[in-house]
Amino acid sequence: NWEVGDLVEEKVSEIKSTVKDGKVICALSGGVDSTVAATLTYKAIGNNLKCIFVDHGLLRKGEVQEVEGYFRSLSLPFKTVDAKELFLSRLRGVEDPEEKRRIVGYTFIEVFEEEAKKVGADFLLQGTLYPDVVESAGLPGAKVIKTHHNVGGLPERLGIKLLEPLRELFKDEVRQIGRSLGLPEEMLKRHPFPGPGLAIRVLGQVNEEDLDILREADYIFIEELKRWGLYDKVWQAFAVLLPVKTVGVMGDVRTYERVVALRAVDSVDGMTADWARLPYEFLDHVMRRIINEVKGVNRVVYDVSSKPPATIEWE
Ligand code: XMP
Repeated sequence: NWEVGDLVEEKVSEIKSTVKDGKVICALSGGVDSTVAATLTYKAIGNNLKCIFVDHGLLRKGEVQEVEGYFRSLSLPFKTVDAKELFLSRLRGVEDPEEKRRIVGYTFIEVFEEEAKKVGADFLLQGTLYPDVVESAGLPGAKVIKTHHNVGGLPERLGIKLLEPLRELFKDEVRQIGRSLGLPEEMLKRHPFPGPGLAIRVLGQVNEEDLDILREADYIFIEELKRWGLYDKVWQAFAVLLPVKTVGVMGDVRTYERVVALRAVDSVDGMTADWARLPYEFLDHVMRRIINEVKGVNRVVYDVSSKPPATIEWE
């Protein structure tokens, strides 16, 4: 049973002796791993750390401001790069999920590399955990999912070294370190969020208008989960915007609008999952709010598929 405080001290001095008076860059995602890695490094080397937060325009409603708030509360030296236009223009017209992932992945690396060059860093900091190390080693059955965080090839191209202070740790240990470093509780308890973001939750072609519809619906779902005390009880939850229209009736007028699917799962590590048995009254309340408040949506469905054979995401 290790002491969190000792581990923090150990990591900080390790980083100090590795980096010395060099410069370190890192990509912040708003997730716990990159934030903990950055906070440890900041403790070790202060403003010789430069963090970059790429806004790819595929984040949820209010998310940019929310995570910027977390970074500020931790005094992290960061810069937000607004690359919304670039990502959206490259995604325009693309339907295939894997192609969308690739586009978001390489565009992310491109934007980050551009910023990294300006810093002239000696190290690239990554919040790689032990399971990521194992996963990239290509164990049979392991699905390589973290394309966007894994800036493969970048250190070589920039001629800099990798710094991975969390590489022998598990998620749980990283959360405990995060807690002791003062990461806000809401941040530590956030559900996982995929690198390609809402690009894989607007099914098929992605455009700004659909992203906005999804953002509103997703926001209501998550807000109500928190209000009903259910957010911490499910492993991951989100809304998906389907590329079909269905017929409805509002007052005495026929409508022909989009469908939102709600997904909430129980899981341990995301490898298998079961649909969360959310109360009917809760689902009813969320359905009413979404249909009444989100323009362009006239139907809400709840996903009751388990993984396998379905996956957690719809794309
Ligand atoms: P699936 O849909 O494969 O999702 O059952 C399992 C977990 O992985 C997340 N996920 C991703 N994360 N990049 C990521 O960083 C991706 O391309 C990606 N695809 C899925 C998903 O949100 C779930 O937590």
